[in-house]
This record gives sequence, structure tokens and C-alpha cells, in this order.
Amino acid sequence: STTIQALRDMPKAELHLHIEGSLEPELALRLAARNHIELPYRDLDDLKRQYAFENLPSFLDLYYRLMTVLRSREDFRDLMLAYLERAHADGVRRAEIFFDPQVHMDNGCGIDTVMDGLLEGLAIGRERYGIRGDLIVCMLRDRPVESAMATLDAVEHRAGDLIGIGLDSAEVGYPPEPFAEVYARAAAMGLHRVAHAGEEGSAAYVTGALDALHVERVDHGIHSADDPAVTRRLADGGVALTCCPLSNLRLNVVGDVRDLPLRELARAGVRITVNSDDPAYFGGYIADNYIALAEAGYTMPELAEFARQSLLATFDTPENQSADL
Ligand code: ADE
Ligand code: ZN
Repeated sequence: STTIQALRDMPKAELHLHIEGSLEPELALRLAARNHIELPYRDLDDLKRQYAFENLPSFLDLYYRLMTVLRSREDFRDLMLAYLERAHADGVRRAEIFFDPQVHMDNGCGIDTVMDGLLEGLAIGRERYGIRGDLIVCMLRDRPVESAMATLDAVEHRAGDLIGIGLDSAEVGYPPEPFAEVYARAAAMGLHRVAHAGEEGSAAYVTGALDALHVERVDHGIHSADDPAVTRRLADGGVALTCCPLSNLRLNVVGDVRDLPLRELARAGVRITVNSDDPAYFGGYIADNYIALAEAGYTMPELAEFARQSLLATFDTPENQSADL
């Protein structure tokens, strides 16, 4: 319909996208064959039956397992290009993209192989689609803080090729506070700061990310709505949330998109953005997330405001930002 086309065409930024979460099952099998890696699935149909998730950890099991097929610079380039082609069709003008180096390094990839491939994909995508893209290095919160610190050591010589640091993986039981020193060092390296908080965890994780990590955006953050003081703090500080409706639905954070508190948060003055998180796993790319909100009763002006906020909440230069507004 025209509403759907309008939502696809609307200029927008994607601020919460794990590049590994854009690995479609077809590409995963192709790369497994290319790299002679055995996966425990009989065929594509068998693999596709694995995409019914109970919660965040049950999704992460499949996500980390499929990441083992990514080995070469070309793999990372191809993955990035496949995402950018899809993002371009959804009106994305700017993308700030997470990657999980700890997992790739476990799989035997050097940090330069990973980053060179992703950056090559971004450079080609900029030429081909006009999308401005940058990388955010994500640390796994369910690993020891020493591992995050060692990963920061490993990327330090490439700090100029990164725009920020993030924190992801299983949330409940892994609060942000222990990563304060990692974030302080990343800030000193010139990196912007974001963290997943309040996805499965409570609003206290959002407070922790603000106080201990000094984050400039909160990834997900939807449980902020459970605590009026946290909601007010986000509003007063102009801290944007990078929300991912289809992710929240598929990981059973909510039973229905209508149960998400995006309207309530927006009316309280919190900056809301809409993103896809892991689109190959959650049944849709960024425009599908806008469409899911439209189907849940969000109006065109509300959705246009979320898109405008996404362009305003990037870490891009003001000149580039205003070009899309
Ligand atoms: N890694 C990839 N997707 C994630 C999510 N939604 N939450 C936490 N860690 C992730
Ligand atoms: Zn995420």
C-alpha cells in the first residue's frame, strides 16, 4: 500500500544493527560451504526451523553458532554489502553498525581481517547506495571484563576506524557497572558510547549504563518505561533509545507490538528511534519494524518523528545530518 511505500521511502538512520544479525540462513550455508565448515543442520529447511526463540539467550545460541561461518575478509565484505543493499531499499541514509570481535577472534579471525572486510563493504556501499556507515565495536557483557579490556587493546590501533563502543549479549545477571573502566578508556580513545540496557533487564540496568558508562544512547531501553525517574532522566538528558519492535516480539520481551511503551516514552519526551537489531533472525529489516508499528496503531506523524529522531541521534557530523532532514 502507499503507507508501506511511504515508510520504506522515509529517510532514516539505522542505529541498532548487529552486522552478524543480518546473516541470512542462505548466506550462512553458502559461507559454510565456501569455508568447509560443518554446521549441525541437514539443509536450509532444517536450519530455518531453528528460528523460533524463547528469549534472548536462546536466540544468541543460534546467532553465535552461525557466526562460525564468517572467516575471511571477503566474508565480512559480502555480509556488509548484503545488509547495505537491503537497507538502501528501506530508505536508510546512515548506519552505525555493531560487530562482535570477541567471537570472530575465537573463530580464528584477526581483528584486521574483520575490520578490513566490514570497512571495504561500507566503502563500496557508500559508492553504490549513498549510505554513510560507521562501525561500533561491541563488548560481550557475559564474558569477563578482562576480555573486553583485551579486546579494546586489540582494536586500539584501529580506533580511527571506529565511531563507538557498545555492550551486548545476555543481559540479565550481567549489569553494566563492571565495564566502567573499559568505557572510560574507550572515551579517551575518542569513541562514542552506547550500551544495550533494559532489553530483558530492568530499568536499573539503564541507570547503570548512564551512571557508570556515560552512554550517549541506550540500545533497546524499553524497560525504562517501568520507572518514571529513569524515563524523566532520559528525557531531560536527550538520551535516545534505539528500539527494535520485531526483536522484542520475537524474543518474547512483549507478547504484542501494542504492548511496547514507545508512545508513552515519546510523550514523556524521550527520543525514540526504530531499528532492526538482527533482521535475519527476527523476520524483518528496518522498514518492517516501522510497518509493524503502523499495524499496531502508530500514526504516520508518530513514525515520521521516530525517523527524524534517528537522523538527529547519529554520531555523524551536523552537516551530514542536516542533509537528510
Ligand atoms: N547481540 C545481538 N543481538 C543482541 C540483542 N538483541 N541483545 C543483546 N545482544 C545481542
Ligand atoms: Zn541488539
